[in-house]
Amino acid sequence: MATINDNYLKLKAGYLFPEIGRRVNAFAAANPDAPIIRLGIGDVTEPLPEACRTAMIKAVEDMGDRSTFKGYGPEQGYGWLREAIATHDFQARGCDISADEIFVSDGSKCDCGNILDIFGNNNTIAVTDPVYPVYVDTNVMAGHTGEASDRGEYGGLIYLPISAENHFTAEIPSQKVDLIYLCFPNNPTGATATREHLADWVNYARANGSIIFFDAAYEAFITDPSLPHSIYEIEGARECAIEFRSFSKNAGFTGTRCALTVVPKTLKGKAADGSDVELWGLWNRRQSTKFNGVSYIVQRGAEAVYSPAGKAQTRALIDFYMENARIIREQLTSAGIQVYGGVNAPYVWVKTPHGLSSWDFFDKLLHTCNVVGTPGSGFGAAGEGYFRISAFNSRDNVNEAMRRIVEKFKS
Ligand code: MLT
Repeated sequence: MATINDNYLKLKAGYLFPEIGRRVNAFAAANPDAPIIRLGIGDVTEPLPEACRTAMIKAVEDMGDRSTFKGYGPEQGYGWLREAIATHDFQARGCDISADEIFVSDGSKCDCGNILDIFGNNNTIAVTDPVYPVYVDTNVMAGHTGEASDRGEYGGLIYLPISAENHFTAEIPSQKVDLIYLCFPNNPTGATATREHLADWVNYARANGSIIFFDAAYEAFITDPSLPHSIYEIEGARECAIEFRSFSKNAGFTGTRCALTVVPKTLKGKAADGSDVELWGLWNRRQSTKFNGVSYIVQRGAEAVYSPAGKAQTRALIDFYMENARIIREQLTSAGIQVYGGVNAPYVWVKTPHGLSSWDFFDKLLHTCNVVGTPGSGFGAAGEGYFRISAFNSRDNVNEAMRRIVEKFKS
């Protein structure tokens, strides 16, 4: 009989969001009339910007004409989209990133996992705690960890705790690590990194020959102009960082699928024979072999994000969700609940009231308010006692969810 990848057996019960889905479905089956409002998974609810839809309709027409029809596209993405990204997302912010260092893909979640293909199996890996679970689970699947402890921590990974005490930004490790995952604005805590904090990481990585995986999927939600949007705004980052970005949250592409990964040509890793090897070439080889690119139609939609109309419409979308975040923060605070995040990020990180555990608060909210959020402990042991509320929903749903919570918890 064929054998399996036993590393999958080390994974805990399930990926957090399917687990939440199971609990909510069970509740809904038992209470079919309950008006459930989902503020759990960070999935967008508002329609795609008109500029993107118009561009995609035009692209569909292109596919209906022999002279403009497209078959396989470049695995790295069409040049016009890569140029637009390089110009607007990076060069406009002073980052020295060129179009051919940008790889268009169908999602940051996929890329965060796939990137491990080009790294060795004996790297020391650091993640924050709490953390976006994909960083951890993909390393478990790849056999980079031992078993999970009772606390849910995998042997072999270095966990860097983040909490209110350190403003949800990890201390620079005292030991040497090879791969570091950073996410700013942070999922799940909504925290941000200052230029100085990122510079400390870049300096650490360069001193130790480490690579930083920088997840900037939520950069568009930054409202404070002093905060960096890209790690390449920090000098030296071209020598030590790969950045992941997405159209999912800024332009509502969670169902449409388009993202990008930046691999600077100056990045290097060590081969077994001790020689230095360019990571760009390895990622290019990996993508050309295992990926056939994002559809022409979707890439045209993504390109439209950078048109004047697209910029105005995505700005309006982001502002809409950030107003939701403001309402969530304000309402929960008025009910005496301590909140963090939600100012430069679409996630509000809530201290569970009355000392409730994360899952107890989840159950209480579901059963008494019919509101779904995400238990902090699902993001790691240090997330226990916290709870994440997503600002991605309609205004009516956010207002109604907050009304129910305030009514229940205002003492
Ligand atoms: C989340 O809720 O954390 C996000 O939706 C996950 C994702 O973007 O993959």
